[in-house]
Amino acid sequence: MKGRFITVEGGEGAGKTTCMNWVRAWLESRGAPVRVTREPGGTRLGEAIRTLLLDTREEPPVPMAELLLVFAARAQHLERVIRPTLAQGVWVLCDRFTDATYAYQGAGRGLGEGPVALLERLVQQGLEPDLTLVLDLDPAAGLRRARNRSAPDRFEREAADFYRRVRAAYLERARRRPERYAVIDAAAPPEAVRAAVERALAEHFSGELG
Ligand code: TMP
Repeated sequence: MKGRFITVEGGEGAGKTTCMNWVRAWLESRGAPVRVTREPGGTRLGEAIRTLLLDTREEPPVPMAELLLVFAARAQHLERVIRPTLAQGVWVLCDRFTDATYAYQGAGRGLGEGPVALLERLVQQGLEPDLTLVLDLDPAAGLRRARNRSAPDRFEREAADFYRRVRAAYLERARRRPERYAVIDAAAPPEAVRAAVERALAEHFSGELG
């Protein structure tokens, strides 16, 4: 049996890391083996690309170069980690995936959906997450949280308008295909956020996990 593919998305400071831990715990308590990974990253090449993308001391890539770097990392990640893991029957839980590319490069950088969709078809050949949790939060609140945590990376230095476009793109994608997404109000108290995450998991997977 193939594993399932779950991704967690959201703007900066929306609580993705905590959410990933909740998802992992929920799955493991039901006996599902889980591999946790992230994008950009998940392989040595992918992590090197991540450094190029996030480091403020590197030469900033133009938007098209940024898009291609993200998909170069994704191609490596898919072939070396995601596909083989799913084929072994292990669930893959990934911190960001292609929805982030639609949000950040497509909407944030203004490249539009066309180039992202083209590369998605080329690189993923139809593979997409079974469920994407979108942690939705007012970007100003999220950026405050993120900036309290560490020095801002290259994305976290973007202006408020960039993050408004990112948020709107996530919500629009979820609106178009509600069966593949769960939008979670990340401004709610942690226990309420956790309950919403677990409800979404139960709706999607309790049939196969019991
Ligand atoms: P994060 O680990 O805080 O989520 O940082 C990853 C950054 O990379 C985040 O600012 C979003 C950005 N990103 C993109 O711009 N496009 C993508 O496709 C992915 C996966 C991430």
